[in-house]
Amino acid sequence: MKKEVQIRPFWYSDAWLFPKLITIVTTLDEEGRINAAPYSHVMQYDVMHKNPRIMMGFRQDSHTFKNICATGEFVINCPSSDYLEDVMEAARFYPEGVNELEHTRFTTIPSLKVKPPSLEQCPQIMECTVDEIVKLERSSGIVFANIKAIVMDEGLEEMSREQRITAMNLPIGLGDEDRMEYYYARPSDVVHFTLKETPRGYQAAKIKTGMEWDEESMQGLMQIPPAVREMVTTQVETYAAGKGATTVTMTHMTELMAEFGMDQAVMARFMGKSDE
Ligand SMILES: Cc1cc2nc3c(=O)[nH]c(=O)nc-3n(C[C@H](O)[C@H](O)[C@H](O)COP(=O)(O)O)c2cc1C
Repeated sequence: MKKEVQIRPFWYSDAWLFPKLITIVTTLDEEGRINAAPYSHVMQYDVMHKNPRIMMGFRQDSHTFKNICATGEFVINCPSSDYLEDVMEAARFYPEGVNELEHTRFTTIPSLKVKPPSLEQCPQIMECTVDEIVKLERSSGIVFANIKAIVMDEGLEEMSREQRITAMNLPIGLGDEDRMEYYYARPSDVVHFTLKETPRGYQAAKIKTGMEWDEESMQGLMQIPPAVREMVTTQVETYAAGKGATTVTMTHMTELMAEFGMDQAVMARFMGKSDE
C-alpha cells in the first residue's frame, strides 16, 4: 500500500529522502573576510563544456548567499568522509564575519581563478563566478554559476572510477531531522554494473532522416547510441541545412560535434560500445 504524504516546508529533507553531495562553500564578504559553510543543494546546470554551469540553492539570509550576491564569487569544496565532524562544525551558526574554518581542521590554499580560498583537505574543488541569481519569493536564493576551474588532487584523474571513489571517500548526505540531527553514508559498499549493449534488433531503430545523408555520414550516425540518435539526426540536419547543404556529410557532423565540444576523446567514450 502507498499513501500520499503532505508537502510541507523542508519536504526535500523531512519527507523525501534525497541522497546528496556534501560541500563546503567558501566565500569572502565585502571586507575580504572568509566565510565557510556546508551546502548540499547543488546540481549541474549547463552540462556542455563551452559554458559549463552549476546551480546551488541557499537560505537567502545566510552569510554565504549574501557574500555571493555582494562579490559574485565562491568555491565549492568537497570534503572526504574523514572531515564530517568539521563539516558539522562549519554548519554551526556563527555571527557574521566569523571564519568558521578556524573551528575546524580545514586550512586554506589560494584558488586559481577566484578570490575566495579553496580548502586544502578537499580532493575535489570547483571555482565559480555568478551567472545569474534568482531570489525565489519567501524561499531559496538560487545561484546559477559559471565553472571557472575544476581542481582535483593530483593522481585522481588518472584513477579508475572504482579507485577514485575509494580514494576520495566522499560522504553522501542523507538529510536531517529538525535541522539538528544529520545523517551521512560513507562509500564503503560500492556496487558496480555494466550497461548491456542495445539488443541487436533495436540498433537501427528510429532513424527517420529528413535529408540525404552520404554514406560516410550515415555510417557515423549509426555509431551514435540509439537513445540519442534521433536527436543527433535532427541537430545535424538543421546544421547542414543552415549551411545551405542538401546532403549531410561527415564534415557537418564533425563541425557540429566540435561546436558541442565533442573532440575525438569524448567521442571515443560516447561511441565505443555500439555495434557488437
Ligand atoms: C550537510 C549540510 C548540508 C547543508 N546544506 C544546506 C543547503 O543546501 N542550503 C542551505 O541553505 N543550508 C544548508 N545547510 C545549513 C547551513 O550550512 C547552515 O545554515 C550554516 O550555518 C550557514 O552558514 P552561513 O550563514 O555562514 O552561510 C546545510 C548544513 C549541513 C550540515
